[in-house]
Order: sequence, then structure tokens, then C-alpha cells
Amino acid sequence: MTTLVEGIGLLYTGDPEREEIEGAALVMEGEKVVWAGEAGRAPAADRRVDAGGRCVIPGFVDSHAHLVFGGDRTAEFEARMSGEPYTGGGIRTTVAATRAASDAELAARAAALVAEMYRQGTTTVEIKSGYGLTVEDERRSLEIAATLTEETTFLGAHVVPAGADPDAYVSLVAGEMLRACAPHARWVDVFCERGAFDGDQTREILTAGMKAGLRPRVHANQLGEGPGVRIACELGAASADHCTHLTDADVDALASSGTVATLLPGAEFSTRSPYPDARRLIDAGVTVALATDCNPGSSYTSSMPFCVALAVREMGMTPLEAIRAATRGGARALERTDVGWVGSGSRADLVFLDAPSYVHLAYRPGVPLVHQVFRGGLLLE
Ligand code: NIG
Ligand code: FE
Repeated sequence: MTTLVEGIGLLYTGDPEREEIEGAALVMEGEKVVWAGEAGRAPAADRRVDAGGRCVIPGFVDSHAHLVFGGDRTAEFEARMSGEPYTGGGIRTTVAATRAASDAELAARAAALVAEMYRQGTTTVEIKSGYGLTVEDERRSLEIAATLTEETTFLGAHVVPAGADPDAYVSLVAGEMLRACAPHARWVDVFCERGAFDGDQTREILTAGMKAGLRPRVHANQLGEGPGVRIACELGAASADHCTHLTDADVDALASSGTVATLLPGAEFSTRSPYPDARRLIDAGVTVALATDCNPGSSYTSSMPFCVALAVREMGMTPLEAIRAATRGGARALERTDVGWVGSGSRADLVFLDAPSYVHLAYRPGVPLVHQVFRGGLLLE
């Protein structure tokens, strides 16, 4: 059964060959798009959907989120807004609440956040563990994540849990914990930062993860300069995430490797910190992605439209660069070729905006512009 979507005022395809088509149509069959182009050339189909002149974009690809957790950190946020700095120390508060939560509670919270994301136009989401920090709590976090997405990430190396010896904990993460978690994960991640894991520990854990068949990604250079970005590039990581504090050598390493710089402006917004310099990265030829970093501590937003607006207003990105980063940039950061664009052969992940153009995502911040979402060809209710 084929479905013709007609009446598309503007189609942002995410395909570099032809990025935007005015007066467009497309045809979906099953979970794929089989044709996209000018409305006048559209082939016949079994049924029709009228986009009513709206702008249609590919579903957002949110390549960085921490959705399996217990408790909340409202008090920490409130204290921060009264002048307390963000140090990442609150992660341990969430670890205690996560360990105390039942599987059903964790699964319900994560599913609710994914549903919230879908309503805001996200159709692919990565979900990390990292608030369990025991073999069993990391394993069950990933098992829950895997019921919601294929893009699951083992982040046993989020922080050293309270009371643990750092060297012994690194050995646990790279050994028994990895063995228990690898069957449920596609990616391995490390929070490489002063106060979390140093360069040698990061390399050890990522290398062990890669030997276990996982692909690497890194939390790098969020709170200060450090070796994270360079290690990500050296190991061929799909993405270095945060990239807030970069040296020229870091920018050069990103530009000359295939590693994507994933920027997470929700974290700077919620920690009242300086934003990463997206212009410097884009001008150097680095592929940039945008993601929410949805988590209870540093960025409790599930909204890609909000991140697009921040990227444009606060990080010097044009609306076109921001929509690119939120769709095909995210797909690059997850090494996915089937999502983040719309055209013959892509997944039928479509967002209809109550707007004539994607520019409105930044021009009308905070306004619920997502009219409807198709995910794998199915209309989400
Ligand atoms: O990406 N940086 C490390 N991890 C999260 C924060 C987690 C937390 O504060 O709970 C981040 O910002
Ligand atoms: Fe994160």
C-alpha cells in the first residue's frame, strides 16, 4: 500500500543533493519513503494525505539522552539558579534514586520521556545507561533502554560511584560490567572529565568496549579542556559530545577525523554556562549534530525544537545549519544512513510543522509547532 503526501509547502529533505523543495510531495510505502520531489511529478498512490501547505522535515535524530533514571533534581536546579555551580556531583544523587527504583518505575519514566520526545518531532533517540553503576543496575538500565530504541549506550563510566576505589571501578567497568551490558548495547561511552574519568581510564574502557563489539562515543570537554575530544578522534568514535571547551588542536582533530561534534545546548542553558562555539566548528569543516542530553541533572528537556532555537539564538548557527544538525547531523553521530533525511530509500520518519518553514523552529521559540509525526510510515497518535 502506497501513500501520497501532497500539499507540502516546503520539504526540507536533509539530502545535500537537493536540500529543500518548494511545492513538494512524497510517497511512502510501508516504513520507507519511495519517492520525493515536485508535486507536479508525483506518481499515483493508493491513498492520499494532504499536508495543507505545511513544512515537512525529517524526524529529529536525538543522538544523546539519559532517560533511565529514578528521582529528580529540582532542588539542585533551584540552587544553581541561585548561583551554585554545576559540577556533575549530583549524578550520585540520581544513582541512589535509580538503584532504589523498580524496573517498572524506571521503564515507565523512560517510556514517558520517549513519548514526550515523539510529540516534539523526534523519531530516533539514543538512550544511555549510567545511573546504575553496579553490574546489575547497568544491565537492567540497558535492558529497559533496549525496549525503547536500538541506539543503546553503555555508560558504566559516568562517574566513580560513592565509596568505590577508582582503579577497581575502571577494571569492573571494562570487565564484568561490560560483559553483562554488551549484549544489550550498541555503543560504549565514557564521561572524560576532571572529576570523572581521565584520558588513560577513558582509553582503557573504550578499547575494551570496542573489543566487545561496541562502537565508541565520548562525553568530552564539557566542563573544561581535556583529552576527551582527541581520544574520540583517535579511536574513530562516531561522536564527541558537548565540545564546549576546545583548543585549536581539538578542532583540527575533529576536522580531520570523521568524528561528529555533538553540541548539547540544553546543558549550557540549564547549568547557566557559556555555549559551545558552533561557528568555529562549522567554519573548520567539522560535522555538527544537535541533541537534547535529556537527563535529570544538567538538561531536563526532551525538546529538539528548543535545542534548535538555542543553537540559532545562542550559538551562531543559521536556521538551516541547526535543522541540518538536528536531523542528518544526529544520524551521522549514530552512523545511521536510513534516518535524518527524506527521499527515496529513507525511513518514513516525517514531521509536519504548523509553519511554512523550518525557520519558524527558531523564530517562534517555545511554540508547539509539531502538527503530526509519522514514524516508520505510521502516524503517531
Ligand atoms: O551529559 N556530563 C555527564 N552526564 C550528563 C549529566 C548527568 C547529570 O548531571 O546527571 C551530561 O550533562
Ligand atoms: Fe550526557
